[in-house]
Amino acid sequence: MSVILGIESSCDETGIAVVKNGREVLANELASQIDVHKIFGGVVPEIASRQHTKIISQLVAQVMDSIEEPIDAIAATQGPGLMGSLMVGLSFAKALAYSWKLPFVPVHHIEGHLFSAFLGEKAPEFPFLSLVVSGGHTQIIQCHAPHHYEILGTTRDDAVGESFDKVARLLNLSYPGGPSIQKAAATGDPTAFDFPRAMRNKGNLEFSYSGLKTAVLYALQEGEAKVEDVAASFQAAAIDILLIKIKQAIQQTGATQLVIAGGVAANQLLRDRTTTELDIEVFLPPFKYCIDNGAMIAAAGHSRFEHGLFGDFGTTPNPGLPLQAS
Ligand SMILES: Nc1ncnc2c1ncn2[C@@H]1O[C@H](COP(=O)(O)OP(=O)(O)OP(=O)(O)O)[C@@H](O)[C@H]1O
Ligand SMILES: [Mg+2]
Repeated sequence: MSVILGIESSCDETGIAVVKNGREVLANELASQIDVHKIFGGVVPEIASRQHTKIISQLVAQVMDSIEEPIDAIAATQGPGLMGSLMVGLSFAKALAYSWKLPFVPVHHIEGHLFSAFLGEKAPEFPFLSLVVSGGHTQIIQCHAPHHYEILGTTRDDAVGESFDKVARLLNLSYPGGPSIQKAAATGDPTAFDFPRAMRNKGNLEFSYSGLKTAVLYALQEGEAKVEDVAASFQAAAIDILLIKIKQAIQQTGATQLVIAGGVAANQLLRDRTTTELDIEVFLPPFKYCIDNGAMIAAAGHSRFEHGLFGDFGTTPNPGLPLQAS
């Protein structure tokens, strides 16, 4: 039994939440910086850290004022992410832990995404297979036990979320690209363009998304193309390759449960296809916990707390923190 305060600040979202027993969200606040970065078409690191600094005290106060139960530990994202952004949340968490005399728990951002699956109505049970699809990651991970992971496949270049963002820019759609491409695709023809499904016949669980973005660029250069058709055809290809690889991973591992997490897990086509086409129990986080948030960090922090995996005041942010070593 534990009540954990979770702090997420790895990129452009300041997420603060309190979660009980890794499952029950008692309070959740999120300050998105999308509007500030929108005009640049992507996240500007220095602006991101300044925004976190501006808002973090107020959000923590808001969350703490709304709960009655005492906090047992403070968890914060240690990495991966942007150095300045990570530093704001991690330093804040360490200072709070010191002044409140509570344990401090560093959390790997991707482990946070994995634990967002525990915030839904039903929770997975270890061991399970997972697909992490976000702005910086496209990975198939075998989750053997809490904090014991094996990366079975990853992207060789762009992440799938990154390709949504880059293609949205090519199509003059707004940032972040995922939601705006999904919206445009709703009225487009997904068969209008036959975009490549890279690595489909390689027999491994690796991904590559940079060729897909280039194929979209060439299609646009070739002549008149309806934005909606390009968006729908791109989305179809981007999601199709995820399904191809995950089916292969299920066959390879014999897994019976699959967790899909990360910002792209909010994509409706991916949600629909994975719940209807796969012969496996699928766990999708509730929409609001797909993108970065504090609740997922608190949920992962709960498990780390229960396993005695604490940090100390010497714990520093690590923008390239590997999952297995965390
Ligand atoms: N409906 C959607 N369809 C497709 N992609 C989406 C959707 N909603 C959000 N995304 C994508 O999710 C990404 C953001 O997810 P998330 O916040 O998990 O990434 P991140 O934290 O920047 O990266 P990482 O977790 O790898 O460090 C963006 O690339 C965004 O375009
Ligand atoms: Mg993320």
